[in-house]
Amino acid sequence: MYSNGNGRAAGAPVRKVTAPDVRNRKGGPALAMVTAYDFTMARLVDEAGADLILVGDSLGMVVQGLPNTLPVTLEEIGYHGRAVARAAARAHVVGDMPFMSYQVSPTQAVESAGKLVKDGAFESVKLEGGEDFAEHVWRIVRAGVPVMGHVGLMPQSVHAYGGFKVQGRGEDAAARVLADAKAIEEAGAYAIVLEAIPPDVAAQVTAAVSVPTIGIGAGPACDGQVLVCTDLLGMVRGHMPKFAKRYAELGDAIVDAVKRYVDEVQRGAFPAAENTYKPNRADESGPRLQEPARVVNLRP
Ligand code: KIV
Repeated sequence: MYSNGNGRAAGAPVRKVTAPDVRNRKGGPALAMVTAYDFTMARLVDEAGADLILVGDSLGMVVQGLPNTLPVTLEEIGYHGRAVARAAARAHVVGDMPFMSYQVSPTQAVESAGKLVKDGAFESVKLEGGEDFAEHVWRIVRAGVPVMGHVGLMPQSVHAYGGFKVQGRGEDAAARVLADAKAIEEAGAYAIVLEAIPPDVAAQVTAAVSVPTIGIGAGPACDGQVLVCTDLLGMVRGHMPKFAKRYAELGDAIVDAVKRYVDEVQRGAFPAAENTYKPNRADESGPRLQEPARVVNLRP
């Protein structure tokens, strides 16, 4: 028996943020997107008022401890997406299309996007790529699935870059990011992530496209921002990218809490009387094994 903490306060039903809502926020209040990979985190992120929750392929690094996002599969994104979707009462839930789930052809892209929506309970999908992937975006959108683009630093191209490197530096590179964003906008994307590009380039792209840009390491001019939840919450022990901000130190808080638990277990201080059910019978110490098994509500 475990708690999923699923009880919601009574009140007016919450209206879901939709892809058209996000598109219409261009020039309006800034959009806040956060990654989440499980029910508990998504529940908290949704309660905090994030507009979008991204089940990013960053889960390969954050959840699985991999050096990059390349091994993540469509099935893994779907598995985490189902858990997140159960928790997101208001936030729009976006599923990342992993490496080689769409690059092969526009047809493969439509099939994979469809699988994420059907099996992962996503409300839209995100894919990395510029001009070369405009047709893929167009075909997915025509199939009825909203697409969020992702240009600038595209982590699935880490080996082509020779590492995770800022993109769009210099006139030619900046023009390429702009052309990529325009192509994805024209293909029908409802929003575009701009990752790790100079802030002036992000400002230029944001002014040039009619859909919201959502920045990560792209400065303040974007129409919204996205952070990885474990960066935002200070749960990362190693290197943090320059653009990330720690809004809490949950890593330290978790280590401290678990240390105190370990200490109490070792000292016999946990569980105390208040963490223990009433004895079966005051005059018996063990369970009544002769009784047939039955389903009981173990909640106090
Ligand atoms: O995978 C991911 O989490 C992402 C965001 C960092 C934009 O793509």
